[in-house]
Amino acid sequence: MIDRYGPMRSPMSSVFIRRERPSLMAPAGPVRRGPVLDGTMCCKLASVGTQMLWYPADRPYRVGGHAKYRIFRKFLCGDTLCRYIKEENKMQIATQLTNQPKTKPDQDQLGFGIHFSDHMFQMDYTPDLGWHSPHIEPYGPFALDPATMVLHYGQGIFEGMKAYRNASGDIQLFRPRDNFKRLNHSARKLCIPEIDVDFVMTALKELLRVEKDWVPAAAGTSLYIRPTIIATDPFLGVRASHSYRFFIILSPVGAYYAEGFNPIKILVTREHVRAVRGGVGDTKTMGNYAASLLAGQKAQDAGYTQVLWLDGVDQKYVEEVGSMNIFFVIGDELVTPELSGSILPGITRDSVLQLAQQAKMHVSERKISIDEVLDAYETGRLNEIFGSGTAAVISPVGEIKYEEQIIKIGDGSVGPVAQRFFDAIMDIQYSRVDDSMGWVEQV
Ligand SMILES: Cc1ncc(COP(=O)(O)O)c(C=O)c1O
Repeated sequence: MIDRYGPMRSPMSSVFIRRERPSLMAPAGPVRRGPVLDGTMCCKLASVGTQMLWYPADRPYRVGGHAKYRIFRKFLCGDTLCRYIKEENKMQIATQLTNQPKTKPDQDQLGFGIHFSDHMFQMDYTPDLGWHSPHIEPYGPFALDPATMVLHYGQGIFEGMKAYRNASGDIQLFRPRDNFKRLNHSARKLCIPEIDVDFVMTALKELLRVEKDWVPAAAGTSLYIRPTIIATDPFLGVRASHSYRFFIILSPVGAYYAEGFNPIKILVTREHVRAVRGGVGDTKTMGNYAASLLAGQKAQDAGYTQVLWLDGVDQKYVEEVGSMNIFFVIGDELVTPELSGSILPGITRDSVLQLAQQAKMHVSERKISIDEVLDAYETGRLNEIFGSGTAAVISPVGEIKYEEQIIKIGDGSVGPVAQRFFDAIMDIQYSRVDDSMGWVEQV
């Protein structure tokens, strides 16, 4: 529809659109200077029959990869035009680059969640404007009113995913849309307005393009992505906030656990529960993690890496391990607890299940009690236990302590099933094999 310069007729309506060189900009008659629009917007206006003269901007610039032009409206078409303009302007991603880029950390010493990139994405929600003012700006602190609701009532949710640099140097994401869908699931349960998955995917890719040099290349490293939504009303009454902030920050990471891919030790707790029936255990909301800290600390004091959580009702059925889903290999059966509403529906968990089904393994999603695990151990059928999650991908479990009993799994080395899923998922994430599952999305 748009050629370089000169008049043309829109194929969609009788709209006459004219583009001229800036030097020829001398619109005659009662022409009013209008807002900044792009080519897509122009099509939308044309489709509702707006008549206008369209000139290149006096100061053309690029936003979100699209050239923007300033419109000179000759014939205004009232509310419809205003609504479209508001919508369009609301979702343009403006970028402000830092003039103080940081020194990048040593790729062999990244740790997890310690370093942050130069920029972040941000947008706000208010009931009248919806999500609006999306922009990328230099990474930095927020100024928040001390009464900001998230600080008091924890009305906040987040996600965790990664960008990977493959052998050709390209940057790619692993099932990112599933993370944003899960963010919307969390949003629904926490009375937070949902985000548009396609739009936040565009925003994330835009941010990753700005921060491409922050995606590390060393083996096993990646750029961790933390999209977050917080309640921002300055108000101390208990109710859902009216305003929110969505932001994405990025952190180059290495291995999650100090043990790397070596088996971890876990402690079963009956003293604490992570989530309850009818609660928010299936969401990534802040309070779930706050509630896990004391048990985690006690486990670490006792020499264990993570807590194995039992269900909050009977304290009998296995739910998760630390902030991972859990799998058992009992005989030839691969078992993971069924999604009960109090377990986070992990994307790595789902990936393991799909790969196992594809490989025609005997897979079950079902209740599994700690007694069954002990029994399998005593009868020599407990072959492997491993956790699954974005941070560590697959984390083999070498030892479990339950009350006074200590279970040692295998010979302390990584089991073949854990190794197989670790390799299979990493191979897809780094494009070392064909992505037959369609899980990888290029940036
Ligand atoms: C509580 C909890 N369970 C499980 C997982 C694993 O989920 P995913 O595989 O999507 O990272 C996570 C991590 O996000 C988590 O925080």
